[in-house]
Amino acid sequence: MPAITATAPGKVILVGEHAVVYARPAIAVPVTQVQAKASVFADLHAPPGEVWIEAPAIGLKARLTQMPPSNAIVRLFDALAAELVIPRFPALRLKITSTIPIAAGLGSGAAVSVACLRALSAFVGHPLSTDRISALTFEQEKIFHGTPSGIDNTVISYAQPIYFVRDQPFELLRVALPFTLVIADTGIKSSTASAVSGVRQRWQQHTATFEDLFDQIAEIARRTRICLENGVIQDVGPLLDENHHLLQILGVSCPELDRLAAAARQAGAWGAKLCGGGLGGNLIALVDPPQAENVAAALRSAGAVRTWITQIQPQ
Ligand code: MEV
Repeated sequence: MPAITATAPGKVILVGEHAVVYARPAIAVPVTQVQAKASVFADLHAPPGEVWIEAPAIGLKARLTQMPPSNAIVRLFDALAAELVIPRFPALRLKITSTIPIAAGLGSGAAVSVACLRALSAFVGHPLSTDRISALTFEQEKIFHGTPSGIDNTVISYAQPIYFVRDQPFELLRVALPFTLVIADTGIKSSTASAVSGVRQRWQQHTATFEDLFDQIAEIARRTRICLENGVIQDVGPLLDENHHLLQILGVSCPELDRLAAAARQAGAWGAKLCGGGLGGNLIALVDPPQAENVAAALRSAGAVRTWITQIQPQ
């Protein structure tokens, strides 16, 4: 029996990825169909400080002290010990499982961090606030992703739709009506860090053009927010298409994502776009709920290795 278990959802960026790194607004929503889970078990027979980590999906079973200091989990323990001002952890076993595909734009790294911080801090009797969990996860993201905007750790920690502008307090998005997304995985693993650094290089070479593209994406994010707050869901479809087109120009799409976007639209989706870093990973399609299964099937026929249907509810 685990002493403490915590979970954290995946996420998709509805509109605004990449431009959000350059302080433009973006909208992200949690995806509860996929989750990271951290379970902490007390080890009553081991001396204090003996910590074992198990992550069966990646074949990991090791004592924390045997893992390299640069490892993400080791860094997480160090950051948590500093935050809680504790010299060492009680003897414990941390088991990490996740149904969020890795390197696919669905926030798997941030979700693992949030779930672990929540479970471990509760286990030692000092449950951290959501604010602190988000902030510590942001620090992790900085180590592993270079220049993250902070949107992933925020939406995953708060597990609610958010309207996000870098370095500003985020806003919870008041969605007036439920809406349905089909998420489709290209099966191509992609690194957010390299997608973000590719955009940065091109931005450095063509600053004025890229600033203009970011402004166009910002306008899409603002219009999407208005549509969602007013329950005009279908009008978000063309905004997603437009956003996908701008992401193509930024250089973060790929033939597989473009093919899935076209297949989704052809199957009746209101709009479709890549989500997250791009260069592989996942696509989202906004659909009329009765069309969701059809669109998902069309996406699988067009090469998606798996699909999920998720509904975002008003709070
Ligand atoms: C990744 O989910 C979204 C990006 O905009 C990067 C970031 O915001 O940190 C590509």
